[in-house]
Parts: sequence; C-alpha cells; structure tokens
Amino acid sequence: MRKPLIAANWKMYKTPTESLAFLRDFLPLVKHHTRDDIAIFPTMSSLAYVIEACQDTRVDVGAQTMHWLNEGPYTGQTSPTMLASIGCDHILLGHSERRIYANETDDMVNWKLKAAIAHGLVPIVCVGESLEKRQSGLTEAVLRWQLACALNGVTPSPNSPITIAYEPVWAIGTGSSASPKQISEAHTIIRHEVAARLGDEAGENTRVIYGGSVKADNIASLMAEPDIDGALVGGASLDPHSFAKIIQYAYSLE
Ligand code: PGA
Repeated sequence: MRKPLIAANWKMYKTPTESLAFLRDFLPLVKHHTRDDIAIFPTMSSLAYVIEACQDTRVDVGAQTMHWLNEGPYTGQTSPTMLASIGCDHILLGHSERRIYANETDDMVNWKLKAAIAHGLVPIVCVGESLEKRQSGLTEAVLRWQLACALNGVTPSPNSPITIAYEPVWAIGTGSSASPKQISEAHTIIRHEVAARLGDEAGENTRVIYGGSVKADNIASLMAEPDIDGALVGGASLDPHSFAKIIQYAYSLE
C-alpha cells in the first residue's frame, strides 16, 4: 500500500514571519492526522525557520529547488549538502515553473535527482505536458520523455523514495484541475515508465501524486481514484485552514 502524500508548494510566497504564523494555525489542525504524509515546501528564506517549527511534528519540510553540486562558484544556488545541514530532508525537482522561468532542462533534473538520492533527500519529481502538447496528442510522449531523462541511470534507494508529481502545465494556477480520468490516464503512463526504468517493484511502490488547481472542493474526487496517491497543492495551500481542509477531505474518505 502506498501512503498518500499531501504537499504544499508555497512558491514565492510568505516571509519567515508569515510562514511561522501559518504554522501556528496549521499544526494544531493536523496534529492527529496519520493517514497521509504531509509536506511543506517554503521559500529558501523561510526554510530553516519552518524546519525548526515542524520538528517533533508529523509535517515534513523541503526546498523547492537546489543545485546538483556540493559547492562552487554558482551565485544564487543552494547545494544538497547545505540543505541537509539544516535538517531539510525533502526536495522538489523539475517543477514546470523552474523549467519555464529558470531554464531547467531534463538533464539538470536528472543530475539533481541523483544528487538528492546521494544525500538521502526525499525527492518529488514533477512532470507534465503543456496545453499545446496535450492538444497535439503528445501527452504520453512528453511524460515518457521527461521520465526517461529524469530517471536515466538512477538507482533507487530506500532512504530516498521517489515521488512523481503529475502536474499538467495547463492546470497549474488556472483554477481548473485536470479531470480524474485525465489524471488516471497520465498516472498509468507514469507508473509504466517508472517500472520500465527502475523495475516492477519501484513501479508498484512509487507514489504518483497530482498537482494543478487542487482545492478543498475537488480533493475528494481526486483521492477517490486508486491511481492518485496524493496531491501537490499551490495556491490553496497558502491559507492554513484551506490546506488543512484539503488534508481533512482526503482523510474523511477513510
Ligand atoms: P496550484 O499549483 O495548486 O496553484 O495550481 C500547483 C503547483 O504548481 O504545484
């Protein structure tokens, strides 16, 4: 059985003070929640504060990006060693906003994934097609290509179980989620590709979560699909009550 993961991607929102204010309200709301794993990905400037505040809670914390090298003359970058040194144990890789605005390539996602595994960080690798590719019937080809590149030469490690987030670019921040059917189709493709690259066991055990306009009013229909192992939530994770409600909706299906 794959344990569901509900994760918050805060993107470029929240100062440290705002992050801590969120946690003051949010942590008591999910204190007794055990069915799903919960993770928060704050900005780099809030990261150490959020890690400290989430110590001794059930909430994991991760960075939204990192470099693949340990150190070097790379202005503005943060390395896996630096993240690990402050107790950061999760990492978001290959988000479409990084691919689009920071020119992250499939090769870089692959190098970062290998670095994450080498440092015992738990990676969430984002893949997903643009509207143009979907309309051209290329969704499957895009997903297979992104995964083939990301997983190339990767050896899975029990310390760094890989989660794949299916995030169709056209559903991110638009208010209209992909349908459960579209998501299930994509997740089946993703699971096959993971199995082809990393073996049947990894294909079975790898969590495949969905991101793109997940909200309190659509989470229940998404989590009802056996192929959807959780959600990566952007906008609706910024308010503590909204994010807790998303987690509770999933919970109420038990
Ligand atoms: P959204 O973002 O929930 O605001 O659509 C999801 C994401 O980009 O991870």
